[in-house]
Amino acid sequence: LPSGHRRLLDAHRYAEEFYRHLLLNTVEGEEALEYLYGRGFTKETIDKFGIGWSLGSRESLVTLLRRKGFSDEEIAEAGLAIIPENGNGVFDRFRNRVMFPLHDMNGKTVGFSGRVIKKTGDEPKYLNSPESPIFNKSEILYNYHNARLAARKSGNVILFEGFMDVISADSEGVQAGVALMGTAMSDKHLSMLGRVTNEVIICTDGDNAGWEAARRFSRMFPSNRLDAKVAIVPEGLDPDDYLKKYGGKAFRENIIGQPHTLLSFSMMYAKRDKNLKNENDLLQYIHEVLEELAGKTTPVERDLYLKQLAEETGVSVEALTAQFRKSEARHT
Ligand code: UTP
Ligand code: MN
Ligand code: MN
Ligand code: MN
Ligand code: MN
Repeated sequence: LPSGHRRLLDAHRYAEEFYRHLLLNTVEGEEALEYLYGRGFTKETIDKFGIGWSLGSRESLVTLLRRKGFSDEEIAEAGLAIIPENGNGVFDRFRNRVMFPLHDMNGKTVGFSGRVIKKTGDEPKYLNSPESPIFNKSEILYNYHNARLAARKSGNVILFEGFMDVISADSEGVQAGVALMGTAMSDKHLSMLGRVTNEVIICTDGDNAGWEAARRFSRMFPSNRLDAKVAIVPEGLDPDDYLKKYGGKAFRENIIGQPHTLLSFSMMYAKRDKNLKNENDLLQYIHEVLEELAGKTTPVERDLYLKQLAEETGVSVEALTAQFRKSEARHT
């Protein structure tokens, strides 16, 4: 470990302790603590995930880290402070945010995501640490260090869209959850997943962004070792909302316990923006599904999905099969 890295890790350890102290033991943290309790967090969850609070003042963490012997350049390199373009001063990057530590695969804190608790302007809901020598988003899966152990028991990893969903699932007994930190899935992410499981259940939000995310994720599978499925959350809810509304048992049994195959998901995806009573939509739907099936199906799967497609569309299996052969010929 280069000594520079060790310094950056130390700075993160102090920052995490500081944020945690502010949340739990100070008047300034009271509103944030109420926010978290209001969302159903418990003290246990706050402890497990190392959650904290950053003050609104411009130099509180910077002051603390200077006192611990860190230079302004080190604090800025860690991503914990910002040195403005004009070089005047050094300011805390995170202010007035609930702080969520981000860990590397050994469980060491290498960055933070901070959430506003009330919007005041057009600032982002979540602010993440920038890339640094110890924080590389394409190598971070939120909660990976815990999920890798839990996955040995559960036999799968749940890939969520937001880390709030990971935390919520964890407190309801689903501990093998991970999330990307607002980036695309990388080959590194895939290989991290492949190292701890051979089944990934994609479980994104029940809205357009969530369906698009599930679509993007699903297209990265199957990678040679990994089997992926998609668990669908009802429209208008995300996994966290669902867990709050229906509880962990319902989530385990009805959502992640009933995942769809990638092919079945791609049919649902193709259908989502269409009205099958409309002839154009119907033809487009058939076209998209056949393209999706072409080159990817075993004979049994083909039979299964073409029958399903025939039932949904009222087109005969024979006609669909003839059309399918043409699609498949183009793909081989
Ligand atoms: P969501 O908006 O679905 O977050 O974004 P959430 O998990 O439901 O959060 P709550 O319940 O509103 O608190 C999903 C993910 O997208 C990234 C974050 O990684 C978040 O977990 N994101 C979202 C950002 O990076 N910045 C944002 O401003 C919003
Ligand atoms: Mn969403
Ligand atoms: Mn969302
Ligand atoms: Mn969400
Ligand atoms: Mn949410």
